[in-house]
Amino acid sequence: MNSVTPLNLHPSTNSPRVFHPLEPLTAHEVQTAVDLLKSAGKVTPTTRFVSVSLAEPSKAEVHSGARGAGLRNAFIVLFDNLTNTCHEATVSLTEERVTTWKHVPGVQPTMTIDEQTECEQAVIASPLFKAALLEHTGIDDTSLVMVDIWSAGNYGDAEESLLRLARPLCFLRADSSDNGYVRPIEGIRPVVDLNRMEVIRVEQYGKWPLPSESMNYSPARVSTLRTDIKPLEIDQPEGPSFEVDGYQVSWQKWKFVIGFNAREGLTLHHLRCQDGEQERSILYRGSLTEMVVPYGDPGPTQRRKNAFDVGEYGMGMCANSLELGCDCLGLIRYFDAHLCTSRGAPLTIKNAICMHEEDYGILWKHTDRRHPDSPEVRRSRRLVISSISTVENYEYGFFWYLYQDGTIEFEVKLTGILSLGAFHQGEKPTYGVLVAPMVYAPNHQHFFNMRLDFDVDGVANSVHRIDVTADPVHEKNPFGNAFQAKSTVLRSEKEAMGNLNLETARTWKIVNSGVLNRLGEPVGYKFLPGDNTYPFASPDAWWRKRAGFVNHHVWVTPYDPDEKYGAGDYPNQSLGGEGLTRWTMADRPIENSDIVFWYTFGHTHIPRPEDCPVMPTAYIGFTLKPNGFFDMNPANDVPPSKKKPAKDCCH
Ligand code: NI
Repeated sequence: MNSVTPLNLHPSTNSPRVFHPLEPLTAHEVQTAVDLLKSAGKVTPTTRFVSVSLAEPSKAEVHSGARGAGLRNAFIVLFDNLTNTCHEATVSLTEERVTTWKHVPGVQPTMTIDEQTECEQAVIASPLFKAALLEHTGIDDTSLVMVDIWSAGNYGDAEESLLRLARPLCFLRADSSDNGYVRPIEGIRPVVDLNRMEVIRVEQYGKWPLPSESMNYSPARVSTLRTDIKPLEIDQPEGPSFEVDGYQVSWQKWKFVIGFNAREGLTLHHLRCQDGEQERSILYRGSLTEMVVPYGDPGPTQRRKNAFDVGEYGMGMCANSLELGCDCLGLIRYFDAHLCTSRGAPLTIKNAICMHEEDYGILWKHTDRRHPDSPEVRRSRRLVISSISTVENYEYGFFWYLYQDGTIEFEVKLTGILSLGAFHQGEKPTYGVLVAPMVYAPNHQHFFNMRLDFDVDGVANSVHRIDVTADPVHEKNPFGNAFQAKSTVLRSEKEAMGNLNLETARTWKIVNSGVLNRLGEPVGYKFLPGDNTYPFASPDAWWRKRAGFVNHHVWVTPYDPDEKYGAGDYPNQSLGGEGLTRWTMADRPIENSDIVFWYTFGHTHIPRPEDCPVMPTAYIGFTLKPNGFFDMNPANDVPPSKKKPAKDCCH
């Protein structure tokens, strides 16, 4: 851990504060929701609480500006292992009663963290697994076996629609703190009935040797650590520039609310910007709705490998406590996440969200050649709001950045450990890359789907697709240098489905036609895509049926608070066709209305030996830039920094 200085800015618990209606549930509210369901007789000994989260109030209520007076409600997903049934409930926390109770037939909600832990124990204790391990490896001791729960998906077999299943992958450590992922037990996959928490069979696909080499990354196990790093400290002698009240934050001209729930993890709400006397809305809700990691190896142990980390595992449930291992510099403000275990016991992930300021190089600069002694330069500073989740072997960091010039950025940091397979000595994999002797990493992709509910200066927004095209050479373009940006208004959901296009430098713009800037143009924000890719799996691949959001990079839908997840509400073991693919079949109008912009971005990961034993971070994301939203550079008013004394220069 580097020089972390946690701030003690928790407001006194004695003074009543005014809640923003979108602040996440408190620990007390989560407990109240659980207790209300229990006392209403809705909970059996075999019931699991999959998630307890804020039932968000209507947008109209939030925009009305009412604060603290509204009703607080919770939304709960429950699953009963005995009856294999899912229920959704809402409870009024204010009135202390269960308000809705709904059976959702034929679905498998997100696997809970408890099920992950119990599944590992069940496999390790299973006589079926012990026998298979002995036959396969000659080892009869399961104490050093690591069992990662992997979702079963749905490949058209009846059991996948009838049972609650997992298909774990197993690894062997050399000792209890060894990195076991480099020693995959290839060719064995137990199939676990999570309702009975029992291994129902162990599938065996042939024998592969156990890789012998250890590869570790903890300092105690790295033979030589480099010694030429001097301390780098960030000093903020006057404190941070942000103010915090509960989960409400203001930083310079920005105002927003931090949200968090078991499924999506970190969410950003009601993002507004102060512009003179006016507080202007930009983004009502920003969230990661799903992500899927499909693997590209058709080998028997590998071919079913794909993971929907939001809908199957729960990105928030997998969040790290950043109390330790945050590694941010400067003054940090943490926020806790209040969840509950699958049995309804309180579970607080302490410091699940980290917020701090970062120096970000030059904001703007100009030197007037005629006054070379007085260059004007401003340092850029950004506010970073982040959370990191560990989904078995992989780590995902989710970072929102707010800048002084009105720019908003979202970035995913991919790190952690590759999902590895074993290979025979002397052979080379076709669908992956050898990263160590007899160890290979299968090719794979990571697809993220973001839901951006824009409210640019109000709810009535439209989306334009902007394509840059070259003019042909003609009498008005005699030198052939002309190009122009062409704007197309997207009028319906089907018209809005689209992909990136490098040939036209394609971007999108979210505008409010009812609010004009001083140049007479609708105010707007530009959506600038970053790195992206296409899926390589067949359109008929089983995982793609469940992940229809990968079929287009961009989707636009009319706002519906019930349409939250790109792959639908219950992608785990589903047959697919849900979410964006189903909703957009209606081809609803989207012009001049409350719209939601969905963006799918992917990272194609052809692994490298340098990704092992632990992967240096890969970055992917997108940017939103004001585009005619302000009348001029909103960062023109940033004051110059103090000049550095000469002693701080290095010669
Ligand atoms: Ni990867």
